[in-house]
Amino acid sequence: MTRYSFRLRRGQGSTARWEEHALELPDFCTLLDALSRLRATSAPGLAFRAACRHGACGDCAVVVNGTGVLTCVTLVGDVAERGRVRVEPLHGMPVLRDLVVDRSRFFDSVATARPWLQSAGAPPEREHVVLPEVLERMRGADACILCGICASACPLVQPQGGFPAPASFLRTLGRVVDPRDGAYEDRLREAGGLFGIARCHSAQACSAQCPRELDPAAAIVDLKRRPAR
Ligand code: SF4
Ligand code: FES
Repeated sequence: MTRYSFRLRRGQGSTARWEEHALELPDFCTLLDALSRLRATSAPGLAFRAACRHGACGDCAVVVNGTGVLTCVTLVGDVAERGRVRVEPLHGMPVLRDLVVDRSRFFDSVATARPWLQSAGAPPEREHVVLPEVLERMRGADACILCGICASACPLVQPQGGFPAPASFLRTLGRVVDPRDGAYEDRLREAGGLFGIARCHSAQACSAQCPRELDPAAAIVDLKRRPAR
């Protein structure tokens, strides 16, 4: 057993405050289990989200000791700093209560990138040929679980900022390299104009914190360099 000192962000708006809680936990305890224990003992009513509990839905994303993590697949012992664990909601999103944020703006931003296929013309007579390396890049984009951590980490994505979530560019690239998609020019134009991709100065925080080890920063660089057809 190890004793940890938790610092929890609670409330919202004018009632926001920090709370300190000491908790003894067994080895290999996840952050999600720790939050559940805190809610059942010294922090009644603590609000946090979780759904799948195995790193697939992105619902449980929070910021721990300054870094975005999924609580269900993160061990307390791996993120504690000298026994201290500071837990707060994702940054740059309105807080609904305690650790729960409203991710609507993040979801809207990804939807604006139209991550679905837009085929050009009639279906071909033969199947499309997709090279293995292209398939790999398409899978990279589609592996995003929409947790919102990249948006929370990005210094350009602010509550009223208007810069899209890095995940939207990852989705754009996934369709831009897709030989079945017919909206190449539109997607590049939107990434450059409407989305203002040139404003990204490669802080790389999105890629550094992505729990799926995806690379939205590299996707942005790729889109910036991609020529018009
Ligand atoms: S790119 Fe990574 S950090 Fe961003 S939403 Fe997708 S999985 Fe989460
Ligand atoms: S609960 Fe689904 S990713 Fe953590």
